[in-house]
Amino acid sequence: MKRGSWNLTPLQIITHIGAWIPLAVGLWDLWQGNLGPDIIREATLRTGKTALILLLLSLACTPVNTLFKFRTVLKLRRPLGLYSFMYASIHFAIFIGVDYFFDFRLIQDALLEKRYAIVGLITGTILLLLGITSTKGWQRRLKKNWKRLHRLVYLAGILAVVHYIWLVKQGVSDPWLYAGIVALLLILRMKPVKKWAISVLQPRIPKRA
Ligand code: HEM
Repeated sequence: MKRGSWNLTPLQIITHIGAWIPLAVGLWDLWQGNLGPDIIREATLRTGKTALILLLLSLACTPVNTLFKFRTVLKLRRPLGLYSFMYASIHFAIFIGVDYFFDFRLIQDALLEKRYAIVGLITGTILLLLGITSTKGWQRRLKKNWKRLHRLVYLAGILAVVHYIWLVKQGVSDPWLYAGIVALLLILRMKPVKKWAISVLQPRIPKRA
């Protein structure tokens, strides 16, 4: 192992600990029988929501650095993305293993018939692809294309929200809140908006030595 690879910043430590908390709480609630009458549904909802939140936090790192010159957050993009993939995998595993009991005919029907499931599958596949290619080795191999490929994270964010919107009953505002966050993160990537936001925010940030 390389020297210094365990030199984590406090923010990285908080991120790693924080990312395991939903899983720990979920397992504790399962143990204590606190997951309500429909355990499978509750576990599916919790893991899906956590995957989405972690994905959005990963997406927020670049704009936070651009706007507030807070470089440390850039180191959180990869772990947050990988943790999002971890929860998405558990979410999917509950769906195929516990909900459908590995009945691949039924799973295939469900995945093809339900539009939210198709979108969820595409989102999960993007997260898998980004997770595999997130290493330094793949960065070197793909050169310029690595950045292009990793822009897919925005598509994953959009599709995760579409998945959420499509499966939630009408009149529930929660998914629209997440849609608003994704829209804001995308708008902040637009050059004129970025320039304007930097001109407003950065003069207020004290220069570091
Ligand atoms: C093949 C992949 C996927 C399948 C089959 C799937 C399936 C499901 C199902 C069955 C539900 C619960 C529906 C209900 O009972 O109301 C759900 C909810 C959800 N899923 Fe997925 N999902 C997939 C991938 C993903 C991914 C990749 C994400 C995010 C990165 C995600 C985020 C969510 C969210 C946010 C919810 C709603 C949580 C809530 O209402 O609190 N899903 N998904």
